[in-house]
Amino acid sequence: MADKLMHAVQYDSYGGGPDGLKHVEIPVPKPSKGELLLKLEATSINPVDWKIQKGMLRPLFPPKFPWIPATDVAGEVVDVGPGINNFKVGDKVVSMLNVFKGGGLSEFAVSSENLTVIRPPEVSAAEGAGLPVAGLTALQALTYHGGITLDKTGPTTNILITAASGGVGQYAVQLAKLGNVHVTATCGGRNIDLVKGLGADEVLDYKTPQGAILKSPSDKKYDLVIHCATPIPWSTFEPNLGPNGKVIDITPGPSAFWTAFVKKISCSKKKLVPILLVPKAKNLDYLVGLVKEGKLKTIIDSRYPLNRAKEAWAKSIDGHATGKIIVEP
Ligand SMILES: NC(=O)c1ccc[n+]([C@@H]2O[C@H](COP(=O)([O-])OP(=O)(O)OC[C@H]3O[C@@H](n4cnc5c(N)ncnc54)[C@H](OP(=O)(O)O)[C@@H]3O)[C@@H](O)[C@H]2O)c1
Repeated sequence: MADKLMHAVQYDSYGGGPDGLKHVEIPVPKPSKGELLLKLEATSINPVDWKIQKGMLRPLFPPKFPWIPATDVAGEVVDVGPGINNFKVGDKVVSMLNVFKGGGLSEFAVSSENLTVIRPPEVSAAEGAGLPVAGLTALQALTYHGGITLDKTGPTTNILITAASGGVGQYAVQLAKLGNVHVTATCGGRNIDLVKGLGADEVLDYKTPQGAILKSPSDKKYDLVIHCATPIPWSTFEPNLGPNGKVIDITPGPSAFWTAFVKKISCSKKKLVPILLVPKAKNLDYLVGLVKEGKLKTIIDSRYPLNRAKEAWAKSIDGHATGKIIVEP
């Protein structure tokens, strides 16, 4: 019998931006051992998806052409491979697809059981699909790397979060406020009210002189910076840091890696720490639980059907999304 076909969006080579994306009909993938077949309800796009297309992560990503991009999905389990004990057909889930397989811009995708969690009815598909890369990065930056406990038991900490209106920043502000934290945030002028609404105590417009130098309106020195915006020189951070201030950089350029190295070998008390997300299901489950409890929300910039995926892609490349960009197959 002929394989069942699905619509998907893929590219065949590096470059090309939105026009490099092609709409195709290809066979629905089959789940192998430890895998689930998901009928996708929502997929979110992250900057890393188009950075891969640009060739910024070559030769590792993509591992092959043609490549169906995007990893952050929510959907329903419609088939299971051998050895699956924790999921069954009909389960609603949130998943981060294997970064070496991609597959999010399509009607069906295969996910690993190890990076999939149950999605309760209180969490919509779009809210869930926003969480994996952006939410996990915000969580790990604050907790593993930043040492913040999200239960108000830790010492009071002054944090700066840059690009607080972006996919990662919006979650970082909300998560930080679960801890004993004073949040200063940066964003564009049009998003100041939104970011205050997420819980930020003080907000700087990054296009103003005070915003450009990251100076706290109430003259606070930052114990921790979660840096989510495009690269900012160490010389801008340094005067705003407390004596043991630490910058967690999720967008490190070459000079950030150099500064991090120099700070480390000179045993500096002020540190710069470039980080990379290490996806973990238990962290994703925690985030889904927070959304269910109403303690965390996904700000959605825009939603597009799969046949308008190019517009979603262009919007992400443009770099001015407020929250997450969602594609709905
Ligand atoms: N290390 C990792 O593992 C990891 C994981 C996730 C993401 N990342 C990286 O982190 C970066 C942020 O990701 P994202 O998903 O949050 O991006 P995003 O959603 O595309 O960010 C867009 C937002 O950033 C704001 N913005 C841009 N430049 C700014 C500046 N200088 N100051 C303040 N706000 C600024 C924009 O505001 P306006 O529209 O007002 O300009 C917009 O609201 C990306 O480079 C991504 O690749 C790294």
